[in-house]
Amino acid sequence: MVSTAGTQSGEQGWSSRSAFILAAVGAAVGLGNIWRFPTLAGESGGGAFVLVYIGFVVLLGLPLVLSEIMLGRAGGEDAIGSVENVARESGVSTRWKGLGALQITSGFLILSFYSVVAGWVINYVYLAGGDFLGAVMSGDVFAGAFAGETQDQITGRMGDLFADPTRLIILHAIFMAATIWIVASGVHDGIEKAATWLMPAFFVLLVIITIYGALTGNFGEAVAFLFTPDFSKLSPVVLNEALGQALFSLSLAAGGLLTYGAYVSKDVNLAPTAGMIAMADTTVAILAGLMIFPIVFAVGLDPAGGPALIFQTLPVAFNEMPAGALVGFVFFILIFFAALTSSISLLEGPTAWVIDKTGWARKKAAIVVGLVAFAIGVTCALGYNVWSEVRPLGFWNIFAETDILDTLDGFTGKIMLPLGALLVALFVGWRADANMVKAQTGLSDGMFLVWRFLVAWAAPIAVSLVLLFGLVPGLLG
Ligand code: PHE
Repeated sequence: MVSTAGTQSGEQGWSSRSAFILAAVGAAVGLGNIWRFPTLAGESGGGAFVLVYIGFVVLLGLPLVLSEIMLGRAGGEDAIGSVENVARESGVSTRWKGLGALQITSGFLILSFYSVVAGWVINYVYLAGGDFLGAVMSGDVFAGAFAGETQDQITGRMGDLFADPTRLIILHAIFMAATIWIVASGVHDGIEKAATWLMPAFFVLLVIITIYGALTGNFGEAVAFLFTPDFSKLSPVVLNEALGQALFSLSLAAGGLLTYGAYVSKDVNLAPTAGMIAMADTTVAILAGLMIFPIVFAVGLDPAGGPALIFQTLPVAFNEMPAGALVGFVFFILIFFAALTSSISLLEGPTAWVIDKTGWARKKAAIVVGLVAFAIGVTCALGYNVWSEVRPLGFWNIFAETDILDTLDGFTGKIMLPLGALLVALFVGWRADANMVKAQTGLSDGMFLVWRFLVAWAAPIAVSLVLLFGLVPGLLG
């Protein structure tokens, strides 16, 4: 018998509410929290960025998380099909499904560069693992990582990696292959299983390393940096950055939550679930900041160090801490896991759509989508060496200095995700059948009014203003 393997027909969905929460938290918590958040907070001057970021999470992110999961569950298909179904049932134009298409495209593009960055993580798993093995062999299990190296040598390893296209591409290939393999194994046997094992382990280690950083690093300076807002640093561009980061980190507007929502059973109460996802994600981002910046200041690195920042600070910490080789090894493995539980949600969106559209087996769809994303990612890897002069959107002054990976990251984060979020807000707030929406969310009358106000008014106005002032001056001048 030929399996149709459609999102509805071929999948059992999540086995329980907690399985869904872990999968969704797994999708949310990833490189966005540990790599992108500290990078952007560092570049944008710290406190003011963090404050605006948290504001966006609470006022826009949380209501939109609920909106997207709700839409997915109500529609019960891939991201495009779900929106189409809800539009049809609400008696409005099915062209709204375009918002699903935009989201899937965003997720697909994010996947392509995400996998490259995750490859950097694998590089450090390998380096720290080798160190740990050496430590065990020499009988000193508690050795620090990168023993005998100077700080410059340790931080310089990132430059060595960037200069080596073959290595970057192989690591990217390994990560993409792992992502494809899990998605090909199915929602229940792949995605859910991966999340239920990996996420709890990740949380425990994160807390331990943050405590270590607090005790040994320059915690006071880090706290001051992250939580003392200097409003002179706030510009429309920083607001745009913070909005994009809030959306990125919560996995909004990239097809992931819409798609995962379709696998949630009807008896799950969505509102508290959305709250838990947003809470967990934000906590991890703040913890990651509190883990990284004490080390940044203790060893005198530049907080505005850009995408290489965490790959330079964490190895320095692991060099100095007792049993650093072991902790470093385990920690990079966990970042790898966190990245993996996110990348599978990025791949699942477009894959579910391809399955529904073509009737292909899940495996074939996952492989084809993953390979195309891999090919785009290769250009990002080459952007650090052979194509280091390439500036894909160099004519646009906000992207004038940005290499291929950063352009893809910036374009999706600053433009595509806000647009995707805007469309969700307009659709859910104004077009989708209000009674259906209310029943799906399970909110009480009062909470529903608050939520609806945020989705229908606050989100569209805020996102439009941010887009207008963040992007238009850049276009004009
Ligand atoms: N939220 C993920 C992270 O922070 C990235 C992601 C974005 C995953 C969009 C799915 C959809 O790493």
